[in-house]
Amino acid sequence: MNGSSTARALIDLKKGWPNPALLPAVQIKTASSVSLSNADIFVPGLSYGPDPGYEPLREHIADWLTHFYHPSTRIPAERICITGGASQNLACILQVFSDPIFTRNVWMVSPTYFLACRIFEDSGFHGRLRSVPEDQEGVDIEYLRKALYQSEMKARAEGNTQLSLKPTRPWRKIYRHLIYAVPTFSNPSSSTMSLQRRQELVQVAREYDACIITDDVYDMLQWLTGKTATQDSMKHAHLPRLVDIDRTFDGGAEREGSDGFGNAVSNGSFSKIAGPGCRIGWLEGTKGFVWGNSQVGSSRSGGAPSQLTSTFMSNLIESGDLQRHIFEKLQPTYARRYQRMISAVEEHLLPLGVTLPQTSRDVVGGYFIWLSLPAPIQAEEVAMRAQQEENLVIAPGPIFAVFDDEKAVDLERKVRVCFSWEQEAMLAEGIQRLAQVIGSMQRNQPQQEKATPGGSSFLVEQYR
Ligand SMILES: Cc1ncc(COP(=O)(O)O)c(C=O)c1O
Repeated sequence: MNGSSTARALIDLKKGWPNPALLPAVQIKTASSVSLSNADIFVPGLSYGPDPGYEPLREHIADWLTHFYHPSTRIPAERICITGGASQNLACILQVFSDPIFTRNVWMVSPTYFLACRIFEDSGFHGRLRSVPEDQEGVDIEYLRKALYQSEMKARAEGNTQLSLKPTRPWRKIYRHLIYAVPTFSNPSSSTMSLQRRQELVQVAREYDACIITDDVYDMLQWLTGKTATQDSMKHAHLPRLVDIDRTFDGGAEREGSDGFGNAVSNGSFSKIAGPGCRIGWLEGTKGFVWGNSQVGSSRSGGAPSQLTSTFMSNLIESGDLQRHIFEKLQPTYARRYQRMISAVEEHLLPLGVTLPQTSRDVVGGYFIWLSLPAPIQAEEVAMRAQQEENLVIAPGPIFAVFDDEKAVDLERKVRVCFSWEQEAMLAEGIQRLAQVIGSMQRNQPQQEKATPGGSSFLVEQYR
């Protein structure tokens, strides 16, 4: 053990929060003061609101997303409803569009954003969450297709062909399957799904009556790794979302003969680009899906969440302050933070045998870097020692396993490190401390085997 650990400053590379210096408090103060000084804004803002949310914000989001994602036709406001953020709205989607019996399984690209697991369990899916592995291109389509087929066969054999618990309503449909993914700059794997996999995923979802729910919360936090694109292109998404593909692919989500609800929806959020405490986001999907989502009981009683904050966000987009914050502050700052961390990884970890995913990408982004450790080093052991010996906190891969389907994808040698939270000046030192731990375990492997039992599952259990 390194005797100096207690004297050294804590370095936290686990926390997936924005650093306080990146919160746009001044801009939000201005936007809130515009709202609260004008009765035309604060009266609706402080009252109950419409089910799909504050109309001016829906319009502004629709225009802003049209500009960023560049779909072939403008996104109409009817495709957007206001939510309490990606997590809150995942629960709403499940309340309206899933049934704890008829909906067979939730298919989660693994490693997954683990906090989503509990949201699915709360809606009755305990024991029916399934891992789907990913490779360098994204979700493994053949694995998913086979597993969906088997799940359908099982449901039929069990006679699960009728809707069971929820009443039929004109604004809803109950999907047979749910697929959950973070296709761009994923949490935790930092990976981006290729265009081809996105198209194939939409196709599979249509074949099996699945709803793909994506958390597209990091899309705007992007920057270039090389010099192959111009800086201006960072003002536009480099890939369409699954919801964009579903909107137009092969006749589109509202093609003749379809039920019009679509097979992909996008959960957007202001958490990563303004502040998580705002607890506000949006859903994009077909007009039918968006209307149905807004009819969830908790929105029928008083309107969409975050009505007052909606007026602030509306001003923030209308004034251009949010876009300036993203393009002039967040993108360059996160790019610099990422660069510091990745340079340290290249210098200190790659020589030890650590590897990175998708190394040939031109565009990277998000909050995280995902590391694969060399055998036989185990992530939970590394995380425990890092804390004890180096006063360093990291996230071991097993916490990102899908609940109750942990064994399907091996995460024992994966580690997530975050560059958004810790002081920028400490990022490289954090990676050096990690290298210290891994190096000492490699030099001393017999002791590592002795030290393994005990604390490891405790680390993971904290997240269940
Ligand atoms: C993939 C993913 N989805 C959702 C969230 C939370 O979003 P919100 O704050 O909008 O609920 C996070 C935050 O870490 C995330 O990484």
